[in-house]
Amino acid sequence: MYIRDIGKKIGAGRTAVIYEYGQDKIVKLFKVGFPSAAVQQEYQIGKLVSSMAVPAPQVGSLVKLDGQEGIVYQKISGFTLLEQLIRSFEKAATYIEKFVQLHVKIHSLQSSCLPDGRQKLVDKIASQKLLQDSIKEQLQAGLSDFPAVNSLCHGDYHPDNIILHNGQLIVIDWVDAYYGYPLLDVARTYLLISTPYVQVHVDTGTISEMQKVLAGKYLEEYYSLRPFSREDFNRALKIVAAARLAENVPNEQEWLLSIIHDRSPSPISVFSIKG
Ligand SMILES: Nc1ncnc2c1ncn2[C@@H]1O[C@H](COP(=O)(O)OP(=O)(O)O)[C@@H](O)[C@H]1O
Ligand SMILES: [Mg+2]
Repeated sequence: MYIRDIGKKIGAGRTAVIYEYGQDKIVKLFKVGFPSAAVQQEYQIGKLVSSMAVPAPQVGSLVKLDGQEGIVYQKISGFTLLEQLIRSFEKAATYIEKFVQLHVKIHSLQSSCLPDGRQKLVDKIASQKLLQDSIKEQLQAGLSDFPAVNSLCHGDYHPDNIILHNGQLIVIDWVDAYYGYPLLDVARTYLLISTPYVQVHVDTGTISEMQKVLAGKYLEEYYSLRPFSREDFNRALKIVAAARLAENVPNEQEWLLSIIHDRSPSPISVFSIKG
């Protein structure tokens, strides 16, 4: 791979910078020092997922540039769903409906070739220094009580990982995909939509109001297609909040601890609506 093949920068995340690459491809170039095994993992998972019945980019080759590893993907043109939501919030209800329908479709697929979601959560919770052993045990027992199913879960399903391409939603960034119990994936999406850590540059007062509306709408829509109990959802939310602590996202620690220790109001509106 040569520098001359790289086009303009089109995105950046916490682990990589994304550049155009030729006419119809992009390259996701991982930061220096990012573990090679994790790049390999994203590549393998991307290949597997793109062969399944979900809208995801095709995966090209693994490349190396000036010591930085990268993965070439099919370029999906269009704005991300997050960008769309910020541009036209009046259409939020329609976008969230589509976003949920696609999440439910993903969960309707089965795969046992991916990492085991339950094991990933067990490991993340066990590594937590901020939690007492008794809390860890409670969370892990709660996790074992969920049915052992092998639904496809994205693991990081949020509006910035979706591109609206010619009216169709395409899901990117499958590195955290696993098989497991879908409500855990739903709880993580709820958490990601609600996070106080936001990278978008809009007035923070407004964005937090938008987040509340979106998170509530997301949960309500998912519930209408695949109902779940309040107790199960709250248990799942605590589990994914504890696992999220391991990601060390700035400004999240206190908020996550308040969810785990029941100091945060429970998102019950969906249950009060449905009675
Ligand atoms: N296949 C793709 N086609 C077009 N844009 C992409 C593609 N993959 C990533 N991007 C852009 O780059 C951004 C970050 O990519 P992503 O894979 O989500 O990286 P990260 O793991 O750092 O979140 C996306 O939000 C999107 O704007
Ligand atoms: Mg991403």
